Amino acid sequence: MGAQFSQFFPPRPAFTEADVASQEGRVFLITGGASGIGYELAQMLYRKHARVYIAGRSQQSAQRAIERIEAAAPPPSSRGSLAFLALDLADLSTIKASVDAFRAREAKLDVLWNNAGVSQPPPGSVSAQGFELQLATNCLGPFLLTQLLLPLLAAAAAEDAGSPPGSARVVWTASQMVELSAPPQGLRMAEVRAPPRDRARAYVNSKTGNLFLAAELARRAAGSVVSVSLNPGAAATNLFRHTPWLRYLAYPLLHAPALAAHTQLYAGLSPDVTTAANGGYVVPWGRIHDALRPDLREAMRPVADGGTGRAAEFWDFCAEKTRDYS
Ligand SMILES: NC(=O)c1ccc[n+]([C@@H]2O[C@H](COP(=O)([O-])OP(=O)(O)OC[C@H]3O[C@@H](n4cnc5c(N)ncnc54)[C@H](OP(=O)(O)O)[C@@H]3O)[C@@H](O)[C@H]2O)c1
Repeated sequence: MGAQFSQFFPPRPAFTEADVASQEGRVFLITGGASGIGYELAQMLYRKHARVYIAGRSQQSAQRAIERIEAAAPPPSSRGSLAFLALDLADLSTIKASVDAFRAREAKLDVLWNNAGVSQPPPGSVSAQGFELQLATNCLGPFLLTQLLLPLLAAAAAEDAGSPPGSARVVWTASQMVELSAPPQGLRMAEVRAPPRDRARAYVNSKTGNLFLAAELARRAAGSVVSVSLNPGAAATNLFRHTPWLRYLAYPLLHAPALAAHTQLYAGLSPDVTTAANGGYVVPWGRIHDALRPDLREAMRPVADGGTGRAAEFWDFCAEKTRDYS
């Protein structure tokens, strides 16, 4: 229980911008970087001279975010750049075009933050392909995006041969709700195939999906990229746009989005996240959590390694549903 309490009320961040060297020449992509936690992360990375892509569906929001960040750190105080990348995770048919647009500008990607997400949209909300919206936006879209970007992440890993292994990373944004309320083994595949009407349950399923995709990618792309998931920490953001009552209820537990961005910063850039931490889980405001619920750890291990292979089953489900769009 102590591990959960310290995620609600975490110690001060031990890894901050002050610990990050210049990121000049490095390329970062943050989905959902125009608002909330992603926005704060984009700001931190830009100040460290990185090339930062804010991926999302609204050019207008991204442009506003870029202007705000640039105004706060105008050149030459940053030698970095900020750019918008059009991306709608809820429409699988558009994701390849987004990656092509990115590839036209960059030959590598150092870190992908799968940060965008939707929580408890109106009942019956579905993606362009008819999938439950949270499963689609939080898992299927990021799965396809990551698959398509893997060659660019591998290119960064190869280029960074002089850097410590594990510098090219994929970060998956889960939630504390997984440990607090996911069923044994994290999720039931029957509920993935036929999502529950309960929107909160569907959200938790999608966030467990993020934990599982991180673990599976870690296995499948070991040696090339490091893949971790995280609970960013509870933060007052637009995530609660569909559940304003929850924002009031949870108010005492909600922190500044900038604090939650430190969890993302740690997962993407901390030297603690070595190849030995591949597949691990990071908690606020940037610590590796070594006491993840045992049944989740079991679900994340393949059958051949003594686990139940639930994460692999979920991966296979995502692969099957996105196959036609790669
Ligand atoms: N805030 C918390 O307490 C908390 C706790 C645990 C986990 N998280 C996770 O943290 C992540 C960031 O959330 P946040 O709290 O910063 O909320 P937020 O400000 O609402 O950020 C979510 C971002 O995702 C984008 N997005 C939604 N649907 C999209 C789509 N179809 N395609 C592309 N982008 C899309 C949103 O863009 P639009 O404005 O266009 O919708 C928005 O920029 C989410 O994955 C969330 O589940 C947050």
